Amino acid sequence: MDLRAALNLVEAANQPTDIHIRKLSYPLDSLEPVMSKNCVDVHYNILTKNYFKKYAATGDLFQKAGAVLHNDYYWPMMQPFKSKNEPSPALGESIEKAHQSLSKFKTAVQEAALTVQGNGWVLIMQDLQIQTIQNHLLKPGILWAIDIWEHATVDHNFNREKFFKNYWNILNWTAVEESITK
Ligand SMILES: [Fe+2]
Repeated sequence: MDLRAALNLVEAANQPTDIHIRKLSYPLDSLEPVMSKNCVDVHYNILTKNYFKKYAATGDLFQKAGAVLHNDYYWPMMQPFKSKNEPSPALGESIEKAHQSLSKFKTAVQEAALTVQGNGWVLIMQDLQIQTIQNHLLKPGILWAIDIWEHATVDHNFNREKFFKNYWNILNWTAVEESITK
């Protein structure tokens, strides 16, 4: 979703029935052992859906729009656990151009996550640069988002390092690539 689409969401806030969360393309238990069935269930079915429901409420509209948008760049970017999981050669090449190598990129993403005190998001932008935010504020130009609110790491005792080491096995590189704005 681009900024225009995000702003359309903001405008649509007065018509909450028009806002739908995208359905998961994978079963609730398929992210295990990185994310348990229970974690996905609570996190997606309750927390994320609540953002959508509360979205039309007054106040903090941009926070709520961000929460909706970031979750929309988060859930579709995961897939059932794969022990060998690599980006396509084309995406791999873009990552190498921006970060020298895939492993340096992964390390940079992990290090960014560790700099966030408490809750927040790691956002990988369309130019493959990495940003972090500690709230839900709307950011334009996102390629994909990684939730580092506490509930996202609950299965690893809130150990983000451990979570990120395993996160790459459930990342949907194809969805990431499809999210690139041409
Ligand atoms: Fe979340």
